[in-house]
Amino acid sequence: MSHSIIFDTDPGVDDAQAIAIALRHPEIELLGMTTTYGNVDIETATHNALLLSELAERDIPVAQGAAGPMVKPRHPAPAHIHGANGLGNIELPGVKGVKDPRSAAQFIVDTVNERPGEVTLVAVGPVGNLAAALQLDPDLTGKVRQVVIMGGSIREGGNVTPVAEANMFNDPHAAQRVLTADWPLTLVGLDVTHRCVLSQAHMARIEAGQGALGKVLAGSYAFYRDFYREFLGIDGCCPHDSCALAWLLRPDLFTTAPGHLTVVTEGMAEGQTIFAPEGRGFIVDRWSQTPLVEVCLEVDGDAVVEWIADTLG
Ligand code: RIB
Ligand code: CA
Repeated sequence: MSHSIIFDTDPGVDDAQAIAIALRHPEIELLGMTTTYGNVDIETATHNALLLSELAERDIPVAQGAAGPMVKPRHPAPAHIHGANGLGNIELPGVKGVKDPRSAAQFIVDTVNERPGEVTLVAVGPVGNLAAALQLDPDLTGKVRQVVIMGGSIREGGNVTPVAEANMFNDPHAAQRVLTADWPLTLVGLDVTHRCVLSQAHMARIEAGQGALGKVLAGSYAFYRDFYREFLGIDGCCPHDSCALAWLLRPDLFTTAPGHLTVVTEGMAEGQTIFAPEGRGFIVDRWSQTPLVEVCLEVDGDAVVEWIADTLG
């Protein structure tokens, strides 16, 4: 089955790898990329999306979006993880292409309305662009084919706070709107992305298979790997954002559960995703009043990283 997608992203080392998959996979029609601040500032995110597309010799529309969160102040970009340029501080060529004149939210609304029922939104950064698109066109919920979000955590705990995953923490107010909208949403969170570790051997295959794009992916991976080794004691990296595409293309590798999501927007637990399984009673029903969505709970991590390396190798 093929998928026509808009890829919403803050590239970012793991975003870059996922973009490569979106550009290369034969069953993905990449309709456009929309950019957000997150791993980098918004101008750098847009630059990197255009650059990666050019390195793959593709001409994909790139529409620039959110420069910061909806409500709270923006946290500094994590240059120690992704590099100041988002791609491991390696030297990068300039870009020739220019961004789409529309905002990311307008691009999403226009594209979905041109092809109602056909377009899947895959978001792998803070989700302000999806929240803004919902504000522009509240009926979008009934017109998308699917929404896949890399973010959140059900049982795994957080990565930037004890309870919050980075994309949810960076804009919890946007996340609350997007994760509680009545559309067919799947959350691909840390419960599964932490089970996937991409090794140097996988990356060597990717570098060999991707020409100029592969050089950038491998160079940026080396920087990201140093962070994993130093801070987490892991030899390899979690390909968080590629997991969202793995879910879309290979759902057979994942175990999911239906239920209701809420995002904490204020206080010590800001950015935490709370999951109430379908049909489970609690002392009051406040956690079970949002629309039913699907969350990923388990994965065959070895098979996912093989799939990534096979796709790009
Ligand atoms: O928590 C993982 C997410 O945050 C990924 O999208 C990664 O790119 C980082 O920004
Ligand atoms: Ca990301």
